[in-house]
Amino acid sequence: MTLPWIARPGARAWRCGPAPAEVRAFHATLPGYVPTPLTELPVLASELGVGRVFVKDESGRLGLPAFKALGASWAVHRILAERAASGARPGPLTLVTATDGNHGRAVARVAALLGQHAHVFVPRGVHPRAVSAIAAERARVTEVAGPYDEAVRAAAEAARSADAILVQDTAWPGYERIPGWIVEGYSTLCAEIDEQLTAEGVAEGPGLVVVPVGVGSLAQAVVTHYRSGPAGPAPALLSVEPRAAACVLESLRRGAPVGITTGHTSMAGLNCGTPSSIAWPYLRQGLDAAVAVPDSEAARAAASLAGLGVSSGPCGAAGLAGLRAALTGAGGEERRKALGLDASSVVVLLSTEGAAANPHSAQETAG
Ligand SMILES: Cc1ncc(COP(=O)(O)O)c(C=O)c1O
Repeated sequence: MTLPWIARPGARAWRCGPAPAEVRAFHATLPGYVPTPLTELPVLASELGVGRVFVKDESGRLGLPAFKALGASWAVHRILAERAASGARPGPLTLVTATDGNHGRAVARVAALLGQHAHVFVPRGVHPRAVSAIAAERARVTEVAGPYDEAVRAAAEAARSADAILVQDTAWPGYERIPGWIVEGYSTLCAEIDEQLTAEGVAEGPGLVVVPVGVGSLAQAVVTHYRSGPAGPAPALLSVEPRAAACVLESLRRGAPVGITTGHTSMAGLNCGTPSSIAWPYLRQGLDAAVAVPDSEAARAAASLAGLGVSSGPCGAAGLAGLRAALTGAGGEERRKALGLDASSVVVLLSTEGAAANPHSAQETAG
């Protein structure tokens, strides 16, 4: 099968405004906040013929095994601040959301931390252990028989009741402010990378950042970060999706956001059929390339990372799987050129979850 891949010349020259500077300072006030590790893996640099490879390891973020609490905490902080400022009736809110696992658990954790309630909708296919992990955060959990997009609709409906609010990590026309805050929250991850690369002697920043993509909110934050600097050299940005749910790749191909029918994938957090409406303009203009990988390659990448001491679930390891797919096999040299990589390039892989975040980790090998 030919590699599902698209390159977008010119994306590195596109520019947008930055995320608010105060997000990082807010996260620093949260209990247990420490920057997650940026780990250099020279074995991967030799394997892939680049200068240095770093993995941003989100297996332990604010006490949870994925990056998602960065977005949920900032969004809920903004919601509560706005309610307080408007003189809204005090008393706990119910934070409602739909999730493939990680975001719902993060919303439930933040709700408990801030004395609020949480109601989390999960689509079919989410592993029972992931469902239990959300319930263990003291959230009410409702299982939906349909796919992710249907769970989002059910959550939006439930959030219409008084004293409830939808805290969703994807946007659509008419629901864009709160997802925008969630995206802002993810900016801390990129700010940490800047500092960590500088400490590693990489003052000029990375040559390529690889990001796993579901609805594209994290990728929107990554594009915002790396496309809001001064004109001049900027890194290439590569999105990686499961073959079973490559809605951003398909949208880039068509030049317009499209909803697709998703299949089954061990990359549960990436199993999304529609790009976020606010992410789309950033993805269309700021991503250099998109690739899709099968579950078997995500499992192989997770095993490689585990062998190198980095805990990574299938979504987290998708970045390495995508990079390997891009740089090897038929057409690999052309794709390397499209990404602007050479033997001295610095690559950053975002490993967005640890193995503990995704119960598929232990069992999935088939693609
Ligand atoms: C572990 C993990 N990685 C990546 C993503 C993708 O993020 P987004 O949906 O913002 O593209 C998710 C989303 O749930 C996730 O849980």
